[in-house]
Amino acid sequence: MHLIQEASRKGRVDAFVQSTDKNFLVPVGGAIIGSFDKNLLDRISKMYPGRASASSIMDVMITLLSLGMAGYKQLITQRKEMYSYLKEELGKLAARHDERLLDTKGNPISMGMTLQCLSHQHDNKQVTMLGFMLFLRNVSGTRVITTTETKHIVSYKFEGM
Ligand SMILES: *Cc1c(COP(=O)(O)O)cnc(C)c1O
Ligand SMILES: *[C@@H]1O[C@H](CO)[C@@H](O)[C@H](O)[C@H]1NC(C)=O
Repeated sequence: MHLIQEASRKGRVDAFVQSTDKNFLVPVGGAIIGSFDKNLLDRISKMYPGRASASSIMDVMITLLSLGMAGYKQLITQRKEMYSYLKEELGKLAARHDERLLDTKGNPISMGMTLQCLSHQHDNKQVTMLGFMLFLRNVSGTRVITTTETKHIVSYKFEGM
């Protein structure tokens, strides 16, 4: 939020999109568009009535009402504490397996860890298998990347996805 505010203050931010599942603890499926320009927001919302599903709105509404402002803020504080704890423990785990927890300064949300011991030349079966195992064990929010795949999005080619 701080970075978005700074970007808007020093440069230009028309609008930004945030997932409701990550920011408001509801099932995947909704997004909130934010902007510093209320007129622009009004224009965007007029493009959409009746087309999107109402279930995301209901989910967010119910969740926010039951949490209340204090409950929501409390969770944000808790997330900051858990981030340090996760970083510490994941770092230990990585060290135990001769892997590295990547140093990504200025990113207070996500972490990255190498999976060197699972990658063998041209064979990523074990790497993708780990993603599968995490999924089966209900570990959400993780993403295992083989670094050898290529993805095309519109006319852009992304290597190592
Ligand atoms: C969450 C996430 C997505 C998916 O966004 P949704 O709006 O939740 O569908 C895509 N890319 C990254 C990096 C994400 O963290
Ligand atoms: C994962 O979640 C499902 C649904 O809540 C549950 O039935 C299952 O036992 C969980 N699996 C593990 C390994 O915890």
